[in-house]
Amino acid sequence: MSITKITLQPKDDAPLIPREIYSQFAEHLGRCIYEGVWVGEDSPIPNTRGIRNDVVTALKNIKVPVIRWPGGCFADEYHWMDGIGPREERPSMYNSHWGGVVENNHFGTHEFLDLCEQVGAEPYVCGNVGSGTVKEMSDWVEYMTSPAQSPMANLRRKNGREEPWKLTYFGVGNESWGCGGNMRPEFYADLYRQYNTFVRTYGPNKITRFACGANVADYNWTTVLMDRAHTHMDGLSLHNYTILNQKWPPSGSATEFGTQEYYSILRAAINTERLVERHSAIMDIKDPGKRINLVVDEWGTWYPVEPGTNPGFLYQQNTVRDALVASVHLDGFHRHCERVRMTNIAQMINVLQAMILTKGEQIIMTPTYWVFEMYVPHQDAKRIHLQLETGEADTGIPAVSATASQKDGKITVSASNLDIAQPQTIEISGLPTSAKVVRARILAGPTVQSHNTFDEPETVQPVAFDVTASEGRISLELPPASIVSIELAG
Ligand code: AHR
Repeated sequence: MSITKITLQPKDDAPLIPREIYSQFAEHLGRCIYEGVWVGEDSPIPNTRGIRNDVVTALKNIKVPVIRWPGGCFADEYHWMDGIGPREERPSMYNSHWGGVVENNHFGTHEFLDLCEQVGAEPYVCGNVGSGTVKEMSDWVEYMTSPAQSPMANLRRKNGREEPWKLTYFGVGNESWGCGGNMRPEFYADLYRQYNTFVRTYGPNKITRFACGANVADYNWTTVLMDRAHTHMDGLSLHNYTILNQKWPPSGSATEFGTQEYYSILRAAINTERLVERHSAIMDIKDPGKRINLVVDEWGTWYPVEPGTNPGFLYQQNTVRDALVASVHLDGFHRHCERVRMTNIAQMINVLQAMILTKGEQIIMTPTYWVFEMYVPHQDAKRIHLQLETGEADTGIPAVSATASQKDGKITVSASNLDIAQPQTIEISGLPTSAKVVRARILAGPTVQSHNTFDEPETVQPVAFDVTASEGRISLELPPASIVSIELAG
């Protein structure tokens, strides 16, 4: 059995880990919004104003800080005025990207902002640059945020909402290099400057503005956007999905895989940190003070859909391997949180690396959900620098990934054993000598392919882990493919 040493080295000037790293993405795609969130007021599924109560409770439990909506590719064909007013009068549209289904627009601006209020999350709205006008985008922002007696604010009032909402984040287009318009970066940079000018500030509402950023390793996109538009943006996005062999289109299977596929996916997950480092280094040229956020607003695993499901719905299962993908990403985002201050896993419910899966009135939490739940203590906590001495699980894959933070007198150390077969002895040092374990839990499964189903919803969920701290040290044995989170006080 190999030994991993984790030495905590707290630094006074360490940053807080922004809770926004734990944000979500919810698109009009498959069963994410419809059924996943929205069931309608007349549904037998318990709901509040049409929004599922069980889903809201589950999301509150992981303290979702921000929800990005309405897409995704859908955002650049979404016309927000179709989604306001009496629902039975809203026009339908064709969802050309995702399954060619008819979108009835019953979930629109009011419903999304109600969801955010019910969950306690901040809204991140993505505007339509690809097929929308400057006026359309400008009117939407006025509709949501103007306190004045202005045309759009009065329309909002007519639709039942007197007070403006707080709109925290706004994205000017999505994947403008691809589904959002197939643009070149020079062209988009100019469009960004133009559209963004009319994302107005109304009353006290302060909008944090994000420009569409690069796909994976498109460093030229980041360079051009930073050269031409950096003074106009608060954030630049990055999209990177975890795909078998890092090769598009997605291949393999979410649940049926061997050792090689297991490590291929983990290698792809680890690569996200390299991408973050390189894009961030480019951003440093124009923005050495790191004012501009690198917003990784789409990340997570992408496999071929579950057999028998609509290929346009991107419905996939979620195993222990996905849980490790999540912990590897979150650990890396913590390390780079001076630059990466928001990330949004794709997607919240029933799509790609989801937190939650639903089937009619049934609901299950995925292994990824439980990682987010175990990591809640890291939200807004002060990062603790770690010295990590570990072996290699496979080529380019460390045996152990880890992170630590401190908040309200409590230290949390999380460690993942990425080795599919070998347990790890982990020796943690550098804790205060008085530190005592107040809670420790482990997430694992009978196998790495283990996942939760509607018949067996609790196969993979955290259970208590027996560990003690003594004289500032902990020694533990971490089983293969497992994640432990230890909370200490004193
Ligand atoms: O998350 C699914 C899709 O992936 C999004 O709509 C798009 O932005 C990306 O290509």
